[in-house]
Amino acid sequence: MLKDMILKELMEHEGESVSGQYLADRYGVSRNAVWKVVKSLKAEGYVITSSTNKGYTLAGDNDILSTQSIRMNLDERNKGIDIYIYDSIDSTNNEAKRLIANDNNMGNALIVSDAQKMGRGRGGKSFYSPAGTGVYISFIYRASAVIREPDIITAKAAVAVIRTIKKLTDRKLCVCGVNDIYYEGKKVCGILTEAVSDLETGRTEQIITGIGINVSTEKFPDSISDRAGSLSRLKISRNELIAGIVNELTALFGDINDTGCRAEYNGYVNSCMNRSV
Ligand code: BTN
Repeated sequence: MLKDMILKELMEHEGESVSGQYLADRYGVSRNAVWKVVKSLKAEGYVITSSTNKGYTLAGDNDILSTQSIRMNLDERNKGIDIYIYDSIDSTNNEAKRLIANDNNMGNALIVSDAQKMGRGRGGKSFYSPAGTGVYISFIYRASAVIREPDIITAKAAVAVIRTIKKLTDRKLCVCGVNDIYYEGKKVCGILTEAVSDLETGRTEQIITGIGINVSTEKFPDSISDRAGSLSRLKISRNELIAGIVNELTALFGDINDTGCRAEYNGYVNSCMNRSV
């Protein structure tokens, strides 16, 4: 699709100008067609400046969720996964279950939403999911395996999140409580893993890993404001964060029963207990 290709081109030259003539020649379309695409990207919220001599420049601080940008940051083996992206949805985990209900053979897929109206947490709690500031994703992984130690799944998810944030910011977060991720003494991420299993075979067909991260959320409802925090000081791109987590998750889920990351996970739990993060 022309729009995806032009967006990719602008993203690859983020902060630099790309000439309209170059884009037109590259994709075999008129300059007017390029201009129309840029106009529709602007309507979606991308900050793109145009100058008659130089062309189009995508501002470097866009943090708009986009399939294109997520895919660009995925490892080669994940590039082909289905990505479902929404402005708002009830819950990405609910959507994952609906997708699986429609297709029992569902393979790996990623569901992303800019906001959730009924974000779910563990124990029937809700997860505050305002628009534009968080990461709310569910990753469907086709396991088709008997899972020997089910608790390793949430441990792997926590490790995937912490490794990704470490890679992007050089900060090491910690795990507190059942599986909450903390930064500077506040909860910044919650994980809700669910599964679709076959009772006859005892196999887990799909694992749904739901992850909610307060990336730049500044204001929280009174009921959670004393313990909820965000990563706003770390200036993370949501698209890079999402892709990084998917890359780590698929690496860790590749051998689903491997428990090799348990020591790393325990280290994150211990650093929360010692209040070193
Ligand atoms: C918790 O804190 O108890 C877990 C919170 C999990 C929230 C994520 S956001 C994406 C996915 N969709 C949901 O409805 N919940 C998870």
